[in-house]
Amino acid sequence: MAYNLLKGKRGIISGALDENSIAWHVAEKAHAEGATFTLTNAPIAMRMGKINDLAKACNAEIIPADATSVEELENLFSKSTEILGGKIDFVLHSIGMSPNIRKGKSYGELNYDWYQKSIDISALSFHKMMHVAEKQDALNEWASIVGLSYIAAQRTYPFYTDMADAKAVLESIARGYGYRLGKAKNVRVNTISQSPTKTTAGSGIDGFQSFYDFADKQSPLGNAPAGACADYCISLFSDLTRMVTMQNLYHDGGYSSTGISEEVIEMFNK
Ligand code: NAI
Repeated sequence: MAYNLLKGKRGIISGALDENSIAWHVAEKAHAEGATFTLTNAPIAMRMGKINDLAKACNAEIIPADATSVEELENLFSKSTEILGGKIDFVLHSIGMSPNIRKGKSYGELNYDWYQKSIDISALSFHKMMHVAEKQDALNEWASIVGLSYIAAQRTYPFYTDMADAKAVLESIARGYGYRLGKAKNVRVNTISQSPTKTTAGSGIDGFQSFYDFADKQSPLGNAPAGACADYCISLFSDLTRMVTMQNLYHDGGYSSTGISEEVIEMFNK
């Protein structure tokens, strides 16, 4: 059900790779809620071609941009304001990748070049997006910027290796720019800390199915699905959350506040 929550708003949505992507769900819901937006992803992800189907369904243009490149982000923001006919009201950062995770490196064996890549792609790109948006004065008053995070920023999950560090940086950047853009233009910046979700990025993590099942059993509401995460993003883009900023907001079915659940205890009693 749609409520016209984003009627007349203009946005930029990154990270829709396929129909499992959290960003894919956000785009579909933003469209249903009356927003117009551009879609963006790394040029290499475009080759898979799926994003074209989403663009068609949402009547959106695609602007390729490697989120680590300030130059490409400059093009993204200037083209977006031009295509959409005005300044931007919401931005979704839904970007994450760790070459170390891809190659199965443990925390003690990280390749440092890849480590820097993980941080650049998954965290600094959030900073770069806001840097460009500010420099171009591309954001409207009361715009809303959301990044996606994971609880490994606060607690240790050994298999999450350098992505844990990247998420900690991402959440810190939300506070740094949340303060700055809040003062400058009443813009709010938040991160959503999402449950494990079956997507390309999620499933790439070693032992994903086990910790997906564990989190599901540990959370009183079960794992939050991608569609529900998209609903939460929409609420943060809407005018109903104008005073929420610089927060890391758990969207995890209660996982982060649960010590242990009966279901998990039962597994040890077997
Ligand atoms: P996904 O694999 O569908 O999305 C990740 C996106 O990042 C892809 O579209 C990919 O093309 C894009 N990307 C990678 N390198 C890029 C670059 N250099 N420039 C621009 N885009 C680039 O997976 P998902 O799960 O939808 O990931 C979205 C966000 O949600 C990520 O930040 C991820 O860490 C976060 N998240 C995911 C969870 C999960 O279990 N799937 C849990 C909590 C957070």
